[in-house]
Amino acid sequence: MTHENLLVDERDGVAVVTVNRPDKLNALNGRTIDEMDGLFAALGSDAQVRGVVVTGAGDKAFVAGADIEELAGLDADTGRALSRRGQKVFDRIEWLGKPVVAAVNGFALGGGCELALACHVRVASENASLGTPEVKLGLICGYGGTQRLPRLVGRGPALEILLTGERVKAAEALRLGLVNRVVPQGKLLAEAESLVRKMIANGPLALRATLEAVHGGLDRPLGEAQEGEAQLFGELCATEDAREGTQAFLEKRPAEFKGR
Ligand code: COA
Repeated sequence: MTHENLLVDERDGVAVVTVNRPDKLNALNGRTIDEMDGLFAALGSDAQVRGVVVTGAGDKAFVAGADIEELAGLDADTGRALSRRGQKVFDRIEWLGKPVVAAVNGFALGGGCELALACHVRVASENASLGTPEVKLGLICGYGGTQRLPRLVGRGPALEILLTGERVKAAEALRLGLVNRVVPQGKLLAEAESLVRKMIANGPLALRATLEAVHGGLDRPLGEAQEGEAQLFGELCATEDAREGTQAFLEKRPAEFKGR
């Protein structure tokens, strides 16, 4: 599969996806969103790929937002459609069923911040900054940001970020829980990849179930969400992986998970 605006480098179970429009600070135009849709669908169903890192080309930007040139000509109908399209693609990332880590290597603004939010974990470089400057354009986030940001950092901090449109530097993002870790830029990709590799050393069915329990559960009442957890727990108990994982512990040897 060849892409105009995405690079994919797959090695030992981890796919590194790089948004590649560095001269536009990796802004997400329609073509890039379409390419992401196709690529993540393929990564989701590729059994060789057990985890994903998402980053941006160059040392300045992760993704500086949706492409403002394309936003300029929208009306109510085309705007709604663009928002729904982006939401669907970012939902696909959130619901990939395998860990996705964002390596935030610079500006993660607007749609770029929303892309980082759709990933499961965020590692940032020291020069990174995140924010939702859409209000400065007379707009709001349209790719899930108004919903994912308060769910991640809480309503108060989210509203400050959303209403001011100001950029949050890496250290402050770390304090808020907007990113999980901050590392020097030269170590960013290695850190993100090592984090994904720690995750994918675990049983793939358990990872999928964890993601489903968390993402499916947070929007439901606690009792219902816990019932979902019990269902998933039960399903896992009947898998070869759970038998192998528990047996390996008892036999004091590393588990060999097969994903079944
Ligand atoms: N959409 C389209 N093009 C963008 C873009 C975006 N979101 N963000 C940056 N670019 C383009 C610039 O227009 C410029 O293109 P040009 O060289 O053809 O003029 C190029 O990327 C480099 O950006 P520039 O603004 O010159 O870099 P900078 O270092 O001075 O500023 C930013 C960096 C990120 C602060 C600034 O580019 C910016 O504010 N971008 C828009 C952020 C935004 O509002 N995102 C939300 C959109 S929903």
